[in-house]
Amino acid sequence: MDITERFKALNEVDSELGSLLKQEEARQSRVIRLIPSENYIYEPARLALGSCFGEKYSEGYPHKWVKGERKHANGRYYQGQEFTNAVECLARDRAVKFFAPKGMEENYHANVQPLAGANANLAVYSALLNPGDRILGMSLAHGGHLTHGHKVSVSSIFFEAHQYTLGENLRLDYDAIRKQAIEVQPKMIVCGASAYPRTIDFEAFASIAKEVGALLLADIAHISGLCGAGVHPNPFPHADVVTTTTHKVLRGPRGGLIVCRRELGADIDRAVFPGLQGGPHMNKIASLATTLKYALSDEYTQYAKNVVENASLLSEALQQRGFVLVTGGTDNHLMLIDLKEGSAKDLDVDGTIYAERLEAAGIVLNKNAVPGDAKPWKPTGVRLGTPAITALGMGPAEMDTLADWFERVLKDEGSVTVVKAEVEELMARFAIPSWVG
Ligand SMILES: Cc1ncc(COP(=O)(O)O)c(C=O)c1O
Repeated sequence: MDITERFKALNEVDSELGSLLKQEEARQSRVIRLIPSENYIYEPARLALGSCFGEKYSEGYPHKWVKGERKHANGRYYQGQEFTNAVECLARDRAVKFFAPKGMEENYHANVQPLAGANANLAVYSALLNPGDRILGMSLAHGGHLTHGHKVSVSSIFFEAHQYTLGENLRLDYDAIRKQAIEVQPKMIVCGASAYPRTIDFEAFASIAKEVGALLLADIAHISGLCGAGVHPNPFPHADVVTTTTHKVLRGPRGGLIVCRRELGADIDRAVFPGLQGGPHMNKIASLATTLKYALSDEYTQYAKNVVENASLLSEALQQRGFVLVTGGTDNHLMLIDLKEGSAKDLDVDGTIYAERLEAAGIVLNKNAVPGDAKPWKPTGVRLGTPAITALGMGPAEMDTLADWFERVLKDEGSVTVVKAEVEELMARFAIPSWVG
């Protein structure tokens, strides 16, 4: 039975869910996906997600740590692990191959079990810090993530969190971060971001961390696919630990991943299980394994290059139409439009209004604070990115069309219906694979 036949069978036994699945697939096929943290999953990875590995309980690891060395011994708590062990080793080894500097793979260890990016970060903190230890991470309002020490996150409840912000040019100011690190004396510095359109200098962060005796965590959730493919500088060998989600530019299943210097591996593993989680989701790990095989291919490297190329073209096209982008452009896959400036100035359109209006026109992105926003709950910007549209095969012509739609929807609310029809026409040419039938 092919996939579509199986969905039909699901629909027969549960038409309520079947109907919701169909509607969601239809919605996704009609709209342009510009949320930079979303993507179209690599199709074999989606197949693996629905496989029998999802039913296996596999608490523990395919290895045991003995005096700091990973031994090929069964570290699981349940029987029946012959193939789950092989799958986890496959995912782990491919992760190291993708992220470790060439020829240095032996010096790194990966944990593929974190259920999400946030969990991966918390596992790193609990592995390498004591409660109350100081961390220094990037402020959410300036592009960091909640788990980098925001006041509502346990990263600031269990640890003493300090936050760095961007410099006046809205770029990372390594001198200011260095000064702050000397003052704060953190035990860990966290770099990486959710909304920073420029290259991150991991070497500069490592030099600051070294100077103050801190560990360096690089959370590359957004850019990990670019780093592994060599399109953005790699955090290794500079960082001690790298965390990432697996579903953004990487195009894998929803989940988290940790890669670290090998000597930290035992602590990291213990923090993930039994510290924070129970049984790993083996279907997700199987799915990640095949995603990483794809990520190591020339085809993926070309995809990652195209993501950045498209982002650069789109940022140019938007600026030609008078939009103001934070930092004046992008080096990676994402950009932030500042609606207080340029062609949007004086139009009384904030991030919420613009994101909703664009959605009505079939263009889906997210409202986002622009550094310096006085009211974070009333953001004055929107964030958009090119990973998903590039996965569909869009290129220079579509970037220009997109910028046109952005301008029309901004300046003329009445254009929404016409733009929506044009978007649907375009999406019909870049059809997403239908599984529901
Ligand atoms: C930099 C960064 N870290 C961590 C996360 C958390 O990932 P998850 O939503 O899988 O918990 C995100 C999610 O957007 C992120 O951007």
